[in-house]
Amino acid sequence: MPDSRVPRPRRYLVCEPTYFAVRYAINPWMHPDVPVDTGLALLQWRDLVRTYREYGHTVENVPPVPGLPDMVFAANSALVLGGRVFGSLFHAPERRPESAAYTAWFKAAGHDVYRPESVCEGEGDLIPAGRYVLAGTGFRTTPEAHREAQEFFGVPVVGLRLVDPYFYHLDTALFVLDPGEPGPGQEANIAYYPQAFSPGSREVLARLFPDAVLATREDARVLGLNAVSDGRHVFMPPQATALAGRLAARGYVPVPVDLSEFLKAGGGIKCCTQEIRS
Ligand code: ARG
Repeated sequence: MPDSRVPRPRRYLVCEPTYFAVRYAINPWMHPDVPVDTGLALLQWRDLVRTYREYGHTVENVPPVPGLPDMVFAANSALVLGGRVFGSLFHAPERRPESAAYTAWFKAAGHDVYRPESVCEGEGDLIPAGRYVLAGTGFRTTPEAHREAQEFFGVPVVGLRLVDPYFYHLDTALFVLDPGEPGPGQEANIAYYPQAFSPGSREVLARLFPDAVLATREDARVLGLNAVSDGRHVFMPPQATALAGRLAARGYVPVPVDLSEFLKAGGGIKCCTQEIRS
């Protein structure tokens, strides 16, 4: 089994953390009085980009905008599926201007961008997994945005309720190991932290993904689930040791990348990575 996992090259969109800082608190990880080492953040982020490239993935850059300290979290700006871009409408007024900056990039790259009418934070809460899009709600993205996404993509959107403020985005509590296929065929598989979800949503996940890898609270609290998988390699924080062991036992290859400085903003590897799915 260990050698049966096949990586697929991906296209990622990122934004350099030139202006990264913690100036406001919109999740429980953020404390504006705790200083951020922007130099260290930049080094850690460059290491992530270098690692993606080393593993054969394409990385493209959105230019950072001064005054938007969370813009590094590219995942929140859109969900791109089948080359179609479903844009963002941020919950926090501080982050709202990011949408226009990302939209400009997508337009220059030849994509139309759908502007949601309800609060929607891109891949932070909308995660394609095989024949479904898994969709978080409770803190940021609204159920109305789930319906808009379903209408836009024509893919069944499965709503999941998040209940722990530390796991305010779906991508802090769940990631896709294998995307599977959109139609009947190879099923997707995921890893997640069950306690981040309401009881009913936990049951939904157990029904849809009986083979999922479950993570502990310790793994989740170092944002171990804010990971990126190419189907074989799992780019994840080195601190999530139990999860790394469980993934390795299932034939995945954990690739440690330390983004510790970004934890001060409540973000990690996946938050910094938007996937462009053609
Ligand atoms: N400070 C940002 C916020 O609270 C962090 C976003 C992290 N991104 C993510 N995809 N979870 O909005």
